[in-house]
Amino acid sequence: MRAVCWSGTTNVRVEEVPDPRILNPRDAVVRVTLTAICGSDLHLYDGYVPTMKRGDILGHEFMGEVMEVGPAVKNLKPGDRIVVPFPISCGNCFFCKSQQFSLCENSNPNAWIAEKAYGYSPAGIYGYSHMLGGYAGGQAEYVRVPFADVDHIKIPDGLTDEQVLFLGDIFPTGYMAAENCNIQLGDTVAVWGCGPVGQFAIQSAWMLGAGRVIAIDRVPERLLLAQTWGRAETLDYEQVDVLDTLRDMTGGRGPDSCIDAVGMEAHGTTFDAYYDKAKQALRLESDRAHSLREAIMACRKGGHLSVPGVYGGFLDKMPMGAVVNKALTLKTGQTHVHRYLQPLLERIQEGQIDPSRLISHRLGLDEAPMAYEIFKHKQDNCIKVVLNPSEFGKGGNGNGRHRHHGGNGGNGGSGHGQGGGRLAGNGGVHG
Ligand SMILES: NC(=O)c1ccc[n+]([C@@H]2O[C@H](COP(=O)([O-])OP(=O)(O)OC[C@H]3O[C@@H](n4cnc5c(N)ncnc54)[C@H](O)[C@@H]3O)[C@@H](O)[C@H]2O)c1
Ligand SMILES: [Zn+2]
Ligand SMILES: [Zn+2]
Repeated sequence: MRAVCWSGTTNVRVEEVPDPRILNPRDAVVRVTLTAICGSDLHLYDGYVPTMKRGDILGHEFMGEVMEVGPAVKNLKPGDRIVVPFPISCGNCFFCKSQQFSLCENSNPNAWIAEKAYGYSPAGIYGYSHMLGGYAGGQAEYVRVPFADVDHIKIPDGLTDEQVLFLGDIFPTGYMAAENCNIQLGDTVAVWGCGPVGQFAIQSAWMLGAGRVIAIDRVPERLLLAQTWGRAETLDYEQVDVLDTLRDMTGGRGPDSCIDAVGMEAHGTTFDAYYDKAKQALRLESDRAHSLREAIMACRKGGHLSVPGVYGGFLDKMPMGAVVNKALTLKTGQTHVHRYLQPLLERIQEGQIDPSRLISHRLGLDEAPMAYEIFKHKQDNCIKVVLNPSEFGKGGNGNGRHRHHGGNGGNGGSGHGQGGGRLAGNGGVHG
């Protein structure tokens, strides 16, 4: 089969690899009908997550058709259409039983590596390094789903793949981020990052009773989507001083809760942001914490700080004094996706939200190398890329915007001048 393989920093290739097989009684093999590139994949792409190996199959946001099930999978049969949550969860351990699925005790065969880094190991994740299990990911024609009896939601007829794909990751992630804010009716919620996760956090903040949502980014089309789809007030962090502006907008008190939907690759133009950039480049620091610092500083006294943004290691210059002395509540985590599958599917069915609004690029699996580049650099108004494994090289993006062909060096350019010309530099569609 064909699969998107990690091939070193900022290098992915579409390669022929062996088909997955049933290995354990609770496995299923799924034919992937649609898969996406997540902001978390960019941390792998950019080389910030240790224990990746050349040839690792990427992708943790995917759905498809069940082809084959192991003898212990009684609730699925070939032909079923399912979305698979990105954390791999056994369903039986202490953590799974208490609905903390991303902390499963039984799904990371390489737990010992994660224990060195974190004390205890979280769940395994598809296509997300050997430290998190070394599982083959879903940016492929087929994928093996362990614990398939627990790790799926069946999709009823009448919903398109595009409407439900994001149930596997970013919709629950935005929702859990808002839930972690303990929003009281009428609260002001500030969201750093208007990428896919930030957009779902905005949507979810309204669902949970926010009175006001303020969203922060610098990418014009993302800020625009936060205004139009998200009904948020927006701040461009390159145009205004975020802390001063938030203070002014909230009568001097600060937002009731702050969501960091940026994570370890934050940009910024302040001193601390340049400091992070230099230290991370020299590998003296693992994560760039600028937006987290800003969220901590901006949050009102007694407020909630919710961090869906992924951090991998050790952060410098954390204003822990502000957390303690302002009595902030900090909540974070890889999303316990399974918890949210049914309730969020119902919201989609009821027409409360159409997650497919986020999709800016519809490409074939073969176009993954170019797709990673434009998503990383926010080129061509890219907000979210979906890849269709049955469309090799066709890749029409169906939204009226022009397509790229690898190697032509063109970029639709969202106008903030990052990394132009990298499309060509990456050697074209086939890497
Ligand atoms: N916790 C989870 O389970 C989970 C699941 C999915 C994604 N994530 C994480 O969520 C984060 C966002 O994912 P995404 O898919 O939206 O990624 P993305 O890269 O598309 O979006 C990040 C956005 O943050 C903006 N940004 C950068 N610096 C900023 C700053 N200083 N202030 C405000 N905005 C800034 C960028 O312009 C970009 O629009 C990533 O760290 C990803 O790993 C976590
Ligand atoms: Zn993800
Ligand atoms: Zn478990």
